[in-house]
Amino acid sequence: MERTFIAIKPDGVQRGLVGEIINRFQQKGFILVGMKFMQVSRELAEEHYGVHRDRPFFNGLVDFITSSPVVAMVWEGDGVVASARKLIGATNPLAAEPGTIRGDFGANIGRNIIHGSDAVETAQQEIALWFTKDELITWQPTMMPWVYE
Ligand code: RTP
Ligand code: MG
Repeated sequence: MERTFIAIKPDGVQRGLVGEIINRFQQKGFILVGMKFMQVSRELAEEHYGVHRDRPFFNGLVDFITSSPVVAMVWEGDGVVASARKLIGATNPLAAEPGTIRGDFGANIGRNIIHGSDAVETAQQEIALWFTKDELITWQPTMMPWVYE
């Protein structure tokens, strides 16, 4: 099944939103297959956001992601990559729909609470960057027949 990489950014952790955010993914019916609380190194942050290396906000973004701990997670489910992006909402929280995580909890593009992979291929690269194979657990929650027909 498809997997995506999700990270609760330093602002989400500092603001006590970890439980709320995990709950939304659980309630949707996605399966948690990996999770760790971590202080991100500059090297990892620069690699993760490498696609934005030439953008004016890059250094500030790396400073922010490394400023305080994050919660890194891998979630699994049919279509989870695109669906997680919908749960998360638009990059700018002021433009994000109410009901989305950024729409409900954010007010600034530089403090948008959560990261989610933007495509299946990116998700595979990000999962490999942030997690080792033995940190990911393949399991079948007993609720599965009540989520999928
Ligand atoms: P993310 O990668 O963090 O999930 O966010 P995203 O796909 O919605 O947005 P992306 O274009 O990948 O931008 C990555 C992060 O950079 C910060 N950003 N700041 N100041 C700005 O104009 C600006 N634009 C982007 C945001 O924190 C965004 O999440
Ligand atoms: Mg992105």
